[in-house]
Amino acid sequence: MTRVRIKSQSEIEAMRRSGKAASTILQRIGEAIKPGVSTYELNQISRQTIEELGGTSSFLGYQFPGHNPYPATICVSLNEQIVHGIPSKDVLLNEGDIVGIDTAIFLDGYHGDNAFTFSVGEIAPDAQELLDTTRVSLYRAIEAASPGNRLGDVCFALQDGAESHGFSVVRDFSGHGIGRQLHEEPQVPTYGDAGRGVRLMAGMTLAIEAMVNVGNSDMRVLDDGWTAVTTDGSLSALFEHTVVILSDGPEILTDNSELWGK
Ligand code: MF3
Ligand code: CO
Repeated sequence: MTRVRIKSQSEIEAMRRSGKAASTILQRIGEAIKPGVSTYELNQISRQTIEELGGTSSFLGYQFPGHNPYPATICVSLNEQIVHGIPSKDVLLNEGDIVGIDTAIFLDGYHGDNAFTFSVGEIAPDAQELLDTTRVSLYRAIEAASPGNRLGDVCFALQDGAESHGFSVVRDFSGHGIGRQLHEEPQVPTYGDAGRGVRLMAGMTLAIEAMVNVGNSDMRVLDDGWTAVTTDGSLSALFEHTVVILSDGPEILTDNSELWGK
């Protein structure tokens, strides 16, 4: 039995603040992205911004069962890396890269979680198509997050958005409920059947994650124990928003439309 925690008005207000803070971090990182910058420097921006906003990192020290504690405040996933790339002084951004940044903040008792895949300078047309497709499928999934719909409508929108372009969705990771915990019920997979699953209700808060590969869904984890990469070496992109379902439809708590075109 899935237990989804419905948030009250005051909890939703608090999540508007943590969502806004999470999008501020992503925006600051976006402004710093250019060839020659190390992924460590991007983590520093996140660390400093979280501190300035009065929160703590949702990721630093996070433990998935069977993993080491996560060592940073952002995940930086370059090109064929899918998710959970660890920032490093030795990794510099190059012209033509795509770089997925995932960051979250715990502020006044609630988490805000978001991700965006940036281009570094000029990128190839297939990389641009991947970014556009992944972002559009996230927004289609968010539109499906309305009261009366079912969770499967959201998941199907993610899958269909990717597969209609001949891409594949990442099947080993998923979005999630969010609130006092970074990961709450329900899980939000990137694939599913329309009309199936939990009925969506006003007051649910979801971190919806669109994760798409140009090639197939197969992945492996590097020796660092975290970084997931495509087995076929194809590019992968991710976009994520924290969303609250209201009686008249979804509201994006981590809005970042000013980042588009970056
Ligand atoms: N947005 C991802 C998630 O919610 C990132 C997790 S990174 C970790 O699962 F550090 F928390 F592991
Ligand atoms: Co997440």
